[in-house]
Amino acid sequence: MIVAGVMSGTSADGIDVAFVRLGDGDVPASRGRAKAGTRVVRSTSPSASLRASSKRASLARANRRLEFLGHAQFPYPGDVRRRILVSMNSPRTSVADLARLNFLLGELYAEAVLSAQKELRIKAQLVGCHGQTLYHQAIAAPFLGRKLAVTWQCGEGSVVAARTGLPVISDFRPADMAAGGKGAPLVPYLDYLLYRDRRQGRIALNIGGIANLTAIPAGASLDQVIAFDTGPGNMVIDALAEELFVQACDRDGKIAASGRVIEEVVERFAGENFFRQKPPKAAGREEFGREFAREFLHEARPLGATSVGNASDKIGLRDLRDKTAKVEKRDVIATATALTARSIRDAVLRFVLPKGSFSEIIASGGGTKNPTLMSWLANELRDSGLRLRSSDEFGIPSEAKEAVAFAVLAFESWNRRTSNLPSATGAKRPAVLGKISFPCG
Ligand SMILES: Nc1ncnc2c1ncn2[C@@H]1O[C@H](COP(=O)(O)OP(=O)(O)O)[C@@H](O)[C@H]1O
Ligand SMILES: [Mg+2]
Repeated sequence: MIVAGVMSGTSADGIDVAFVRLGDGDVPASRGRAKAGTRVVRSTSPSASLRASSKRASLARANRRLEFLGHAQFPYPGDVRRRILVSMNSPRTSVADLARLNFLLGELYAEAVLSAQKELRIKAQLVGCHGQTLYHQAIAAPFLGRKLAVTWQCGEGSVVAARTGLPVISDFRPADMAAGGKGAPLVPYLDYLLYRDRRQGRIALNIGGIANLTAIPAGASLDQVIAFDTGPGNMVIDALAEELFVQACDRDGKIAASGRVIEEVVERFAGENFFRQKPPKAAGREEFGREFAREFLHEARPLGATSVGNASDKIGLRDLRDKTAKVEKRDVIATATALTARSIRDAVLRFVLPKGSFSEIIASGGGTKNPTLMSWLANELRDSGLRLRSSDEFGIPSEAKEAVAFAVLAFESWNRRTSNLPSATGAKRPAVLGKISFPCG
């Protein structure tokens, strides 16, 4: 069965569509091959992705077969991205606008699937659509006399089904939360299928808006997998690049590479509660969004400015030992980049390595396109003995992995199989994830 996975993560950068041919292991998944290809709007050359897609990622050992067929990326239009960012976590967005956004995103996801199908000359039979998380509160909090953990992914599945003419599975997270889980992370199911190994422990690391890892000890069964969010991936870097440089991200890590890391600020933030908290744990914009970026800037605030955007280049450090230190705006980006690398390292050292022997980290997500981040991460991991690799080496282009994951999760749900990992989400039991929307007629 060919399944389209549609992912839009917390970065709200756009829509990833990945096509995979999936089958159960004892049944050959494919005879012949669909034309593989990729249209990647940014950053990766088509030839690189075609090379990756020609390798066959094998799930055969886990009684699943997966053949990666192609991937396409569609950035959100600027006004849509802005509306999403404003709506996330907003105490003021109107209900009518949220309902509109839900239907609008359904239209955009459908258009993305249709365009990708056309361009790659692939026809899917099922869509797994994650949607855009607008709110995720993993820890139960009081509300009208009850304690509730809640989540909402926006992007109406019925619209996607009607426009594409395909059955759509969407809303993957609530079933895990209803079973007592944190609703995240869900990608570990794919990580386990792809990377488990009898002889060596491996860590899959995805650096999206948030960074998360899946640690799979050698010879582990599904319930021995450790998975959790390590903290910010690109989210803080993006927010500060926007604020200080009016750029959506620090493209190719150039700003950070030219800046100086303010070690005191890295240490101060790396010591915060979230990082010390034991897994399972999940994070989002609620933890590392606007508020966090604001606080981060508060530690390194432009001299003589009431707001950050109109500041001169000189920035004065507040509340630090060396109060006379002058730093540039680019130092703030460098420091945020260093925090991401440090928090990943700390998570690995604190919560993963004590649990067994691990030999490699396999990285994916948009953060792998930031060479400064990747080289600082390699530096942070230098003494751990872990080899830093890319998911491209395993046949899944690093920017497509999460979309592939939602194709796999949809395939499992379509077959009424459970795919959350209680060891990762904290759920009391496995759950069949998602809801099905059927096309009209
Ligand atoms: N060339 C690049 N240079 C620096 N950062 C990049 C580059 N390409 C992508 N990114 C980063 O990756 C992020 C998107 O990563 P992605 O894996 O799609 O995250 P999410 O799942 O949260 O949407 C962007 O917001 C940006 O920060
Ligand atoms: Mg994205």
